[in-house]
Amino acid sequence: MAHIVVSLGGSVLIPDDRDNHFLIRVAELIRRSAKDRPLIVVCGGGKVSRYYIGIAKELGASRDEQDQMGIDVTRLNAKLLQLAIGEDCFPGIPTSIDEAEAAASRSRIVVMGGTAPGHTTDAVSAMIAERLKAERIVNATSVEAAYSADPKKHADAARYSSLTHQQLLDLVNKGHHSAGPSDVFDKLGAEVAMRSNVPIYIVDGRNMQELEAAVRGEKVKGTVVGNSQ
Ligand code: UTP
Repeated sequence: MAHIVVSLGGSVLIPDDRDNHFLIRVAELIRRSAKDRPLIVVCGGGKVSRYYIGIAKELGASRDEQDQMGIDVTRLNAKLLQLAIGEDCFPGIPTSIDEAEAAASRSRIVVMGGTAPGHTTDAVSAMIAERLKAERIVNATSVEAAYSADPKKHADAARYSSLTHQQLLDLVNKGHHSAGPSDVFDKLGAEVAMRSNVPIYIVDGRNMQELEAAVRGEKVKGTVVGNSQ
């Protein structure tokens, strides 16, 4: 059975509000879902990574060094999720797409963070999805769906229930800051998903029903990108 890749935003995973409660619930969902289909969960860095990157920048760190700080935090977040999942989870944190592929051949649940400087964990999700010919990517994020503009600023902003990969790329390129373009999906990730034709479900990652529906490929309130069914 093909893999599902979940890009779990850092601000979703560690919102700074009853974090252990969310981690326990999402770990349950992951364990349950992995009975039907193998999962790779790529954890983001959230505001903790921005905090470290900000300080590193002030200390004169290079762009690569800043990114490395961010990657370290994504791996710390991955470690927390791994703890919450327990023994059903692959025990290590893969640090590259090759390592993730090897881990995926040994375990039905693999949790990881970033890989290399210069991109985000959305891009990592798309790269691993491409490598494993995954069934879909679930972007568990802090927005409910993709919009034509920031719905907080534009009352007439259109909410998309479906988009083609090209339409997603156009949105990301236009730089619509609905909550920051990276909250919808990052540009490199959108490009990789388009070239490998992997659907992306963009859903509110704090909403367990939505997240589960997206993992199962069922109808969601969020946005489905590039689903030809
Ligand atoms: P995130 O994937 O969380 O980035 O990685 P983001 O999209 O900016 O954060 P959210 O979605 O708003 O929470 C955090 C940072 O870690 C570095 C980048 O600097 C990124 O901004 N990173 C992450 C990498 O350089 N490479 C990776 O593979 C992953």
